[in-house]
Amino acid sequence: MDRTEPAADTGTVDPEALRDPEALRERAVASLVVARDRTTLLTSCVEDPDLTAQHSPLMSPLVWDLAHIGNQEEQWLLRAVAGQEAIRPEIDRLYDAFEHPRAERPKLPLLSPAEARRYASDVRGRALDVLEKAAFHGTRLTEAGFAFGMIAQHEQQHDETMLITHQLRKGPQALTAPDPDPVPLLTGPSEVLVPGGPFTMGTSTEPWALDNERPAHRREVAPFFIDTTPVTNAAYQAFIEDGGYENPRWWAPEGWAHIRRHGITAPLFWRRDGKQWLRRRFGVTEVVPPDEPVLHVCWYEADAFARWDGRRLPTEAEWEKAARHDPAGDRSRRYPWGDADPGPEHANLGQRHLRPAPAGSYPAGESPLGVRQLIGDVWEWTASDFLPYPGFRAFPYKEYSEVFFGPEYKVLRGGSFAVDAVACRGTFRNWDYPIRRQIFSGFRTARSEDV
Ligand code: AVJ
Ligand code: FE
Repeated sequence: MDRTEPAADTGTVDPEALRDPEALRERAVASLVVARDRTTLLTSCVEDPDLTAQHSPLMSPLVWDLAHIGNQEEQWLLRAVAGQEAIRPEIDRLYDAFEHPRAERPKLPLLSPAEARRYASDVRGRALDVLEKAAFHGTRLTEAGFAFGMIAQHEQQHDETMLITHQLRKGPQALTAPDPDPVPLLTGPSEVLVPGGPFTMGTSTEPWALDNERPAHRREVAPFFIDTTPVTNAAYQAFIEDGGYENPRWWAPEGWAHIRRHGITAPLFWRRDGKQWLRRRFGVTEVVPPDEPVLHVCWYEADAFARWDGRRLPTEAEWEKAARHDPAGDRSRRYPWGDADPGPEHANLGQRHLRPAPAGSYPAGESPLGVRQLIGDVWEWTASDFLPYPGFRAFPYKEYSEVFFGPEYKVLRGGSFAVDAVACRGTFRNWDYPIRRQIFSGFRTARSEDV
């Protein structure tokens, strides 16, 4: 069992930036603007019928996400922070994620694309007025601009959701982006030993960290080896060619039942063409690139691959120790490369590219032990259930994290190419059902030192 105890949090944001309200205000404005630019791109690159259609029963119509983004912003920035009256109280229930499951949303009397755009931009105009005058202290909601950061993260999370909808959508290409620049790939070892011992997990000081990342606490982790890069398509293809999907020996029983019932024999969006594999990616079919991290696998597939390879998925604590612990100073940092905010040299984030970079990219984002691409590229499945940290307190609402805690959800870490830096940290926790694979999910493997 992991041993836990309270701990001082050592990974910190530049304290100067936090003390200076004008710098904070600028950061909040910039985060909101970047998010809205992305939302606009995702909802203007297709015609209205594609905004109101349901492209998959797993997803909302894009126009639902758009108005929901505006509605959350209205509830938290206009009503909760500024005490304003509801602009359109009658629409709250339409855009309450708990009121209507995704599959039902196309049948609701939703705002039209034009109305949704007008509503979201009306809310945004008022929110920027609130932000201009906001004091960043006094209440927990506004301390260090938390509510503004939370809303920028919320919009970016829905932008990732909308990008998933675009990937599921049939039809011609609507989005383009340059591929990652070729860089010298990692030539070092394929795994490194992370020494055993305690480290500080989670955070109590990162100002825009969400409730489930808190508080910082000490965790004892036994020594383990972890892959220096995510598992590649080539490695995953070897698992397929070796009959990995035909042998129950590699699979958790529920995983085996699931892939058999649904006839799953490869990652989502893959199709065999003679001897090679093709995949559909944002409306374009391509040969599966061997050196890219594998994408669109569910937890059961990641778990089965790892077992076939004589390995296992890392626990969430192992993942975070590999990503944050500085062995030189027993200190947990914000990111594998240190405390600096992510730049384009560190990690593949922010939908700058529409694919992960080849495994072994991003030398500047390497951890002190030489682990690459922990942040960005692909979400990484961990072995762990989504559970609260010791001392967890729901904030500002139970429906963000608390209602999801439990064994039904597995934790994913590190973010993907579709995650913006504002919603990505060494402490950030994502979660989903172990059968889900429309998300931008991959994994890396680990093994215990004595195995
Ligand atoms: C953290 C990605 C699981 O999309 O369900 C969005 C984020 N929460 N609106 C989700 C979220 C409320 C959440 N995930
Ligand atoms: Fe939401």
